[in-house]
Amino acid sequence: MSGGIPGGQVWHPFVARVRAWREPALDRRGLTPWRSALLGGLAGEVLEMGAGDGRNFGRYPPAVTRVIAVESEQALRRRARVRAVESARAPGGREGRIEVVEGAAGRLPADDASCDAVVACLTLCAVPDLEVALRDAYRVLRPGGTLHFLEHVRAPSRAMRVVQRALDATVWPRLAGGCHTGRDTVGAVGRAGFALGEVRCFHAPGGRTPASYHVLGTATRPPAVPGGPGSGPADCRPSVS
Ligand SMILES: C[S@@+](CC[C@H](N)C(=O)[O-])C[C@H]1O[C@@H](n2cnc3c(N)ncnc32)[C@H](O)[C@@H]1O
Repeated sequence: MSGGIPGGQVWHPFVARVRAWREPALDRRGLTPWRSALLGGLAGEVLEMGAGDGRNFGRYPPAVTRVIAVESEQALRRRARVRAVESARAPGGREGRIEVVEGAAGRLPADDASCDAVVACLTLCAVPDLEVALRDAYRVLRPGGTLHFLEHVRAPSRAMRVVQRALDATVWPRLAGGCHTGRDTVGAVGRAGFALGEVRCFHAPGGRTPASYHVLGTATRPPAVPGGPGSGPADCRPSVS
């Protein structure tokens, strides 16, 4: 279930502003190193799904040649464009390396098998349909390409899961722009056909809450088997929809 509205335009400008206030607070309390760990090993062409106000932009390593930063909410997109310009002017930055574009998971503005990596940072909790989002990430990744995620997820304990389910079925998505506290994101990544890599579980700084259970992980779109399904040129394949 979603707190979104049809067409992928999930975010209300008010929520965008609340987010703009909350995320820096989380970063200040200690999420920043996790953001750096998320992006540190990336190279080549990267698509960031739900880039928000662009707070990851300054952390993309020089080996990343291009970032397609997809954001569905207008106010966040505006802020992200400012950040893209700032990061181009920073030492080591390059004009045009980060392009902020309108789009949403399920209709990502990238060709099939065109990206080396997809980044989802605190976004898979908010997409209206997790499976659709992951299928689209899989579609745009080249075989062998990697999904990098930093997300808050379902708690390990039964008691906290009950709380998460209750919140997700009632107020939380409405108050937090479609966000869900307790999604089984890691399971969904596996079910979407990715080969899971290392997944680290941690608590967000600032105490134990229904939204504090986080994972940092990678998953690979399996390389195409020669002669097998999906091994032909990208433009010969029907797109997964
Ligand atoms: C909590 S914010 C995280 C923003 C940013 N990734 C960060 O790390 O600060 C959640 C993001 O998910 C985005 N989002 C919500 N629904 C989406 C969808 N259907 N497709 C893509 N992004 C979506 C929101 O617009 C927002 O930017």
